[in-house]
Amino acid sequence: MKPSRSALAIAVATLTSVCAYLLIGSGHAAENAAPAYVTEMPAGYRDWKVVSVAHEAGKLNSIGIVLGNDIAIRAYREGKLPFPDGAIIAALHYSHVPSDENNKVFGDKQSFVPGAPTNIQFEVKDSKKYATTGGWGFGHFTPDGKPGAAAFMQTCFPCHKPAAATDLIYTHYAP
Ligand code: HEC
Repeated sequence: MKPSRSALAIAVATLTSVCAYLLIGSGHAAENAAPAYVTEMPAGYRDWKVVSVAHEAGKLNSIGIVLGNDIAIRAYREGKLPFPDGAIIAALHYSHVPSDENNKVFGDKQSFVPGAPTNIQFEVKDSKKYATTGGWGFGHFTPDGKPGAAAFMQTCFPCHKPAAATDLIYTHYAP
């Protein structure tokens, strides 16, 4: 049986509205999507220049080395804020352990050094891609390169917000 003109018109109208619905739907999904974070370790970070170091006692009991790529280091040295797009800051964290080897030489229990690596964190500046998190993409990786779980990655930006005056970066350049 040949479909009538009106049945065809209804079919076309239905299809059109289904498409419109799908388009609107996907638009909303993008708006409500969780903020983007860094899922791949930036290449070559271990060769970057030192910004500073930080020791966290308490539960973290870590020692961290903060490194910057060339764009980040230049901005730090020129005191340029906000950091330009392309700047990347890395924090290499290790457990904080006593060194018997050093203590023997000093004759006192005074020496602490980095132990096993615990994690590597990044802040990648891309003001468009990471617009919802202050222009910084946050990244967290296990020592063997596994990225942090999505829920864990939601904790980074809120805790870095108090550093708004220094573009969300806590670490100051150690001359
Ligand atoms: C409880 C608050 C808090 C949370 C949560 C947090 N940070 Fe930080 N972060 C800090 C503070 C304070 C510093 C500076 C002290 C230090 O380095 O130990 C810092 C330092 C850093 C640095 C070195 C550059 C800088 O901003 O000073 C990086 C990179 C970093 N955090 C990434 C992350 C990532 C990625 C996450 C989420 C997985 C995260 N942080 C979660 C408080 C936080």
